[in-house]
Amino acid sequence: MKNIIAFAGSNSKKSINKQLVTYASTLVEKGRVSILDLNDFELPIYGIDLENDKGIPKNAHKFLELIKASDGILLSLAEHNGAYTSAFKNIFDWMTRIESKIFANKPMLLMATSPGARGGASVLEIAQGRFPYHDANIKGVFSLPSFEKHFSENKITDQELDVQLKKLVKQFEDSL
Ligand SMILES: Cc1cc2nc3c(=O)[nH]c(=O)nc-3n(C[C@H](O)[C@H](O)[C@H](O)COP(=O)(O)O)c2cc1C
Repeated sequence: MKNIIAFAGSNSKKSINKQLVTYASTLVEKGRVSILDLNDFELPIYGIDLENDKGIPKNAHKFLELIKASDGILLSLAEHNGAYTSAFKNIFDWMTRIESKIFANKPMLLMATSPGARGGASVLEIAQGRFPYHDANIKGVFSLPSFEKHFSENKITDQELDVQLKKLVKQFEDSL
């Protein structure tokens, strides 16, 4: 049984990206998916002085261990001002102080959604450019634009987008 982790790059309790990644996890047939929440891995804002004084906090180690113990990653990034949210960037930065290759070549389905028509296209572009330096093995990329219009009752309501995501989840699973 494959062990997949799913999480959103957001610390919002009502995160639409968590809703999307949770839906994607229901489409997984082969594996067991654990849904993680950045709120359960609270961390101080990264700073070199803090690191020098106190070291790397336990929660950064814990999250990295969960990535490394997994067989694959479902990740949906929230977009703030065209980039990662502070919460995601913070845990990302802390983990890269433990080691650079944090994604450990695990197959990844990278997603984003936003209320706007671009569906997190800017943060997806940033992540696709950057994650490979951290040994990401991106198997597919999915953007859900206009979340309110296309998602309801815990699932995607637009058939074309739903079919697109289902294909990508299948591809992701086949790569595990
Ligand atoms: C500070 C801030 C900046 C934002 N910037 C963007 C943006 O650049 N592009 C976008 O599509 N949405 C932007 N939004 C709207 C977010 O996409 C929206 O809040 C969404 O719900 C965030 O995802 P989450 O619910 O998973 O946290 C921004 C929201 C905030 C609070």
